[in-house]
Amino acid sequence: MTGAPRIALVGGTGAVGRTFLELIAQRGFETSSIRLIASARSAGQVLPVPGGAEAVVEDLATCDFAGVDLAFFSAGTPISAEHAPRAAAAGALVVDNTNAFRMDPDSPLVVPQVNGHLLAERPKSGIVANPNCSTIPLARLLKPIQERYGLRRVTVSTYQAASGGGQSGIDELRADTAARLADPAAPAPGNSRFGPGLAFNVVPAIDRFLEHGGTLEEQKMRQESRRILGLDGLDLTATCVRVPVVNGHSEAVVIDTERAADAAEVAALLAGQEEVRVWTEGFPTPRTVTDQPDLVHVGRVRTDPENANRLLLWLVADNLRIGAALNALQIAEKAVSHGIVGGAL
Ligand SMILES: NC(=O)c1ccc[n+]([C@@H]2O[C@H](COP(=O)([O-])OP(=O)(O)OC[C@H]3O[C@@H](n4cnc5c(N)ncnc54)[C@H](OP(=O)(O)O)[C@@H]3O)[C@@H](O)[C@H]2O)c1
Repeated sequence: MTGAPRIALVGGTGAVGRTFLELIAQRGFETSSIRLIASARSAGQVLPVPGGAEAVVEDLATCDFAGVDLAFFSAGTPISAEHAPRAAAAGALVVDNTNAFRMDPDSPLVVPQVNGHLLAERPKSGIVANPNCSTIPLARLLKPIQERYGLRRVTVSTYQAASGGGQSGIDELRADTAARLADPAAPAPGNSRFGPGLAFNVVPAIDRFLEHGGTLEEQKMRQESRRILGLDGLDLTATCVRVPVVNGHSEAVVIDTERAADAAEVAALLAGQEEVRVWTEGFPTPRTVTDQPDLVHVGRVRTDPENANRLLLWLVADNLRIGAALNALQIAEKAVSHGIVGGAL
């Protein structure tokens, strides 16, 4: 590749895709060109892209990836499974936001602040997988704790926002909330993305249920954390819950450590990590972190008064940015700096 990468954004009209465009502009990520790709529904729309230009949305079904150096996919798992290998075969380095390649041994699963060294070489598949939105901030905090204290067990409960269900999830929460404010007995939205409906509710079901009674989202958190941290046997249990918040995932985390941990020391350790803010007064919430959306926010760091090997903390992170588009862009920034973008074939 000579010059700045030519990029393609599959899912460029969606919640993650639009956040990605915002971040490209905000971070001054250099590109030679930006193509927006979506379904036939949006094909032909003309949308602004960073740098004052415009792009005509292309239909993924018929688009050709020739000449693309970096392709970002955020259009759903089956879509990535079918089309990401096509983009990689055409020479693009793919950064995939879906679940399609996260367990593929030929596609590294990367959180740049944790295992960015994996980007020193172009992956065999040509695809880098971006982890799940709740896994990313958790792994960023677990890594230094693991290095200093050792991890025996992690138990996490998530409080995940409607935006994790895409733009239609946000739209549904707003409409359902308005309907229920007007009439508390209003029926749940038909075909709700959130089962019984999310307004004035919490729903302990994200993604599909598996045979053992857990959900795929919960399994993703366990398997992906193990892979990112390089801890095959990590004992991690998650309960993933959707809450009526527009954007910003929160997590209550209980960490059993090998060695006793002092809360003040842990807070200082976390505060020393890249792009992490530890709240020593008050606590972060999805509403109070919006002025610093590119940081992982941590609060209520404490040890169990009856168990010095048990740490508890609360984290909040913007799922569209840290949990998706920002992590993907940071992967791209690192890949460009390592010279592994473009020109594979
Ligand atoms: N939201 C999050 O916090 C988050 C975090 C991590 C990962 N992700 C993953 O990122 C992906 C997208 O999420 P999102 O929140 O941006 O969803 P979204 O707002 O619903 O956007 C979906 C995007 O995919 C496109 N698309 C849908 N079906 C398509 C098809 N058959 N062919 C081509 N494009 C198609 C849509 O294009 P049209 O305009 O044509 O419909 C749109 O651009 C999902 O796989 C999700 O799991 C999301």
